[in-house]
Amino acid sequence: MSPDPLRFLRCPVCGEPLSGVETEGARALRCPRGHSFDLARQGYVNLLAGRAPHTGDSPGMVTAREEFLGAGHYDLVSAALAAAATGSSATETSAAESDSADATYPRLVVDAGAGTGWHLAAVLDAIPDAVGLALDVSKPALRRAARAHPRAAAALCDTWQTLPLADASTTLLLNVFAPRNGPEFRRVLRPDGLLLVVTPAADHLTELVEQLDLLRVDPTKSDRVAGSLGDGFDLVGRSRHIRRMRLRRAEVATLVGMGPSAWHIAPARLAARIEALPEPVDVTAAVELGVYRPR
Ligand SMILES: C[S@@+](CC[C@H](N)C(=O)[O-])C[C@H]1O[C@@H](n2cnc3c(N)ncnc32)[C@H](O)[C@@H]1O
Ligand SMILES: [Zn+2]
Repeated sequence: MSPDPLRFLRCPVCGEPLSGVETEGARALRCPRGHSFDLARQGYVNLLAGRAPHTGDSPGMVTAREEFLGAGHYDLVSAALAAAATGSSATETSAAESDSADATYPRLVVDAGAGTGWHLAAVLDAIPDAVGLALDVSKPALRRAARAHPRAAAALCDTWQTLPLADASTTLLLNVFAPRNGPEFRRVLRPDGLLLVVTPAADHLTELVEQLDLLRVDPTKSDRVAGSLGDGFDLVGRSRHIRRMRLRRAEVATLVGMGPSAWHIAPARLAARIEALPEPVDVTAAVELGVYRPR
């Protein structure tokens, strides 16, 4: 675990700063009041205050996500985030649809619901002086996220609860296909910080939605995001990013396995539907990136 992001962490019980301690070979983070949090062998720190309401993505979903992202299929998402973070215009962003974000060089980049840390790593690569923190409630995801980048650390927490971060500690907050906690996002962001939210567009995976009967994206999703963040943010930019992916059937199975449809279709029925697809199959990846500034 990179030590740099530790100074931004706060005890989830009392809100005091945390520092590293080592007792009998076991490493932990401890606050001045004696609350102690184990550093897992796999490199992340468990900052859950109490029990999580759920365990996040399962090992199978995380393996599928790691494989699919590793093949580069969702690099349009990483590229869009990195470009918005650094103020670059080198994206497929439509000028009419988007205001560009200011060039900012954040000290701390937090990814809330980071999964394997793939996109966080890409953003850190684009901002050489920043350190990163991956937050997720899934242990198998955090095992990957802890190794995602030399300047990143990873912490287990439930992002619906108080985030284990100091007020105004975060310069750039990423949120990609993951739950959003508007009031907490606002609290941890610096006044000059940015929140980047990626959501699926209405035509995301449209070919598979029809042929495999996957869960449909709510066409008003990106509008609802702004509402769900509460009144602490102004939407200052919005862009759409689209790419045609040419996938083999095995990759389609991986893609379905990493998303929410994995919970909703019986595996045998899904396998039969995938078998009936042409190979390769062209699939649309379409996402919306919202850029928000604290009000
Ligand atoms: C669809 S995945 C996206 C992961 C990553 N942002 C990416 O795009 O590769 C959603 C992630 O949110 C995490 N998650 C879901 N509910 C959560 C919660 N309440 N607190 C923290 N993480 C949560 C899941 O474990 C999962 O890793
Ligand atoms: Zn404490």
